Amino acid sequence: MVEILKLNKISPLADDCFKGFAYSENIENPDGIMVRSAAMADYPVKDRLLAVARAGAGTNNIPVAEYAKKGIVVFNTPGANANAVKELVICELFLGGRKITDAIDWVKTLKGEGENVPKLVEKGKGAFAGSEIYGKTLGVIGFGAIGILVANAAAALGMKVVGVDPYLSARNAVALPAGVNLVENRDEVYKAADFITVHVPLTPDTRGMFGRDTIAKMKDGAVLINNSRGELADSDAVIEALGSGKLSRYITDFPDDKLIGVKNAVCVPHLGASTPEAEDNCAVMAAQELTDYLLNGNIKNSVNYPAVSMARSGSARLCVHHKNVKETLSKILAAVAEEGINVENMQDASKGEYAYLMCDLDRAPSEKTLEKINSLDEVLRVRAI
Ligand code: MLT
Repeated sequence: MVEILKLNKISPLADDCFKGFAYSENIENPDGIMVRSAAMADYPVKDRLLAVARAGAGTNNIPVAEYAKKGIVVFNTPGANANAVKELVICELFLGGRKITDAIDWVKTLKGEGENVPKLVEKGKGAFAGSEIYGKTLGVIGFGAIGILVANAAAALGMKVVGVDPYLSARNAVALPAGVNLVENRDEVYKAADFITVHVPLTPDTRGMFGRDTIAKMKDGAVLINNSRGELADSDAVIEALGSGKLSRYITDFPDDKLIGVKNAVCVPHLGASTPEAEDNCAVMAAQELTDYLLNGNIKNSVNYPAVSMARSGSARLCVHHKNVKETLSKILAAVAEEGINVENMQDASKGEYAYLMCDLDRAPSEKTLEKINSLDEVLRVRAI
């Protein structure tokens, strides 16, 4: 029986996808794992583990590169929580323009003033005047599923949008709002934007991208919004910029100890995807990706292996994770041909150092052939389904 370990609480809507599987928090040697934010760096991987599905976008809690070496596929759910994050960003744009959080805190200090409250409110409110977002420029770093939704919503609210994404997909390019100023590099965004929102994954390249040098390139009084990952920003540099007024506000869904209590740092406790709608969407998408991989070998939305997907044909499917090096394919296919098996359909694709081959065969390969393929230096894992 296929066994799936639940490492976090996952929406019950995923349960339907795992009918006929064992699916619980207590699985010793799972074939697949469903995870949200549990840190997996020290998770003791056992021999059966084929795939991990993250119900969410970021995969920095999973040792993705190490798993790739073992032929363990890591999936995420891009777009499934995009609307929830977009709505939080829109809220934060207003929090950035106006001193709403400070004002609400101040009103709490009026508790006990009895019938003087209305008078005190009118007298004190002047300290909390703010500005509108209409007509201001929003800079978007990263036009993935979230960045696109944010850009469109901001444009609909009357903001000008400038943005950058070196990996912009054709599908997202056509979804950009009319009139968006798509620029070549981030510096052009920093120069133009009154508000900056970042929607990129945490990688060695993006870690610390908002440091002193970058912030210096922004407009005086810019608002920086970070719902992606805390490590994208250097908190010391941000605090310094808030102190000098270079940044008028830093709004983050990833607070750290240094930022809490700093004037004009608005700390939100990672609420971006915390809506039942987003949790349901992510859980169902992750469960579908995981089951399709375990049962059919299809890979869609993996962060460490390429997308490879085919309708089933033939009598058996051979799935091989291999290094992306020349002649590997011919060695694998030679082993199949040696047994007199015909390949009816196949796909092979690579992502960086790794590649994945799926072949539909007219009959199942023998254990001997599978062992032969597995023994190739370039091969990381073999499965016949
Ligand atoms: C994501 O990575 O999808 C969001 O930060 C929300 C989450 O961590 O679940």
